[in-house]
Amino acid sequence: MHELETLIRAVPDFPQPGVVFRDVTPLLADAGAFARCIDALAEPWLGQGVHAVCGIESRGFIFGAALAQKLNAGFVPLRKPGKLPPPVVGMDYALEYGHDRLEVRAGALQPGERALLVDDVLATGGTLAAAQALLGRLDVALVGAAVVIELPALRGRSRWQGEAPLHALLRY
Ligand code: PRP
Ligand code: ADE
Repeated sequence: MHELETLIRAVPDFPQPGVVFRDVTPLLADAGAFARCIDALAEPWLGQGVHAVCGIESRGFIFGAALAQKLNAGFVPLRKPGKLPPPVVGMDYALEYGHDRLEVRAGALQPGERALLVDDVLATGGTLAAAQALLGRLDVALVGAAVVIELPALRGRSRWQGEAPLHALLRY
């Protein structure tokens, strides 16, 4: 078992019946484990010329901001609706439990800019697919995506478009 797996808590029936919630907060609270997690997340992207790390609200901010520092890149938050002041560009999507929308500040990313998407969990893939479509609308050069946890049973990877790599650290 990956040493980081022991620090991710499985919580049955949260936030609704049938969902096994993967809680990363014990991992975040362990200084050494958090640092090793960021090192491992960064490894495939070192030397790839990543200019912007786009973290998905909210848990993607935690990993994305640390990863941006590691990669010497800027950090661009992809936020839930109504959080960023205008002008914004947005994209709606469906979730494992509900639906939502992602927005980015208009002008935060330039056409052709080399960007990496980051989130904590890939479940149904709706969130990451929406983020990918949003960056596509802005003509960003998407280098790939990094997630800490992939839930392969939910087949989220099948919604990822194109050839850019999607790397997951852990699978449940
Ligand atoms: C969770 C998680 C991912 C998304 C994955 O976010 O952090 O962003 O769900 O699910 P999907 O692959 O089925 O789209 P959530 O919307 O619960 O927000 P949070 O990070 O603010 O808790
Ligand atoms: N986001 C979507 N599904 C999730 C899960 N099972 N655990 C944690 N975050 C999630």
